[in-house]
Amino acid sequence: MGNIKVSKPSSDRKKNNIRNKYNATADFYNNRYRNIQYEKYARMLNDVKLKGRILDLGSGTGLLSDFLNKKIIDVDISINMLRKSKNKNRILGDAENLPFKNNVFDFVLSFTLLQNLLGFKLFDEVKRILKPDSFFVLTILRKKYTPTVDKELGKHFLILKKVDCDEDIGFICRKTYK
Ligand SMILES: C[S@@+](CC[C@H](N)C(=O)[O-])C[C@H]1O[C@@H](n2cnc3c(N)ncnc32)[C@H](O)[C@@H]1O
Repeated sequence: MGNIKVSKPSSDRKKNNIRNKYNATADFYNNRYRNIQYEKYARMLNDVKLKGRILDLGSGTGLLSDFLNKKIIDVDISINMLRKSKNKNRILGDAENLPFKNNVFDFVLSFTLLQNLLGFKLFDEVKRILKPDSFFVLTILRKKYTPTVDKELGKHFLILKKVDCDEDIGFICRKTYK
């Protein structure tokens, strides 16, 4: 598996389907989505001063790491998506079951991942690994968005900003309590 670290695999059926879908389409992903994703990164991160330890959840082919040109850690469930990434700090794993200690990241970023997940376990994991007063920046596909996202995010984080990202809706959040 080259220099890709492997975290605990998941046997969940929905996750297997998602993994298979992205494994099968990884070759086309960058050509089809690079410009669309870059536009989302620009809209969400233009006013955000990224520093410290940064994690990209559902990092796919590493487009965000190319865009930022910063040291970040990529986590994705699809080996073929990760293989396309130029970022060498990459882990094959499940965003809902992360191989990190509590309170270790300054920023968790996650673009167009949430609609692939059942429920909101992601928010518990992100809250666990973020340092207090640190930031969670995420987007979800608009066609899969419901107001429950705001409600569940609000149970875990302070929502600082909601952003129109064309095909996605984005949120900038902070972990406020210890
Ligand atoms: C629409 S792509 C977005 C990729 C990347 N964030 C971007 O901006 O191009 C969604 C990604 O989420 C990954 N993914 C889906 N479920 C996941 C999970 N449970 N844990 C980690 N990654 C997951 C997929 O493998 C895929 O690479």
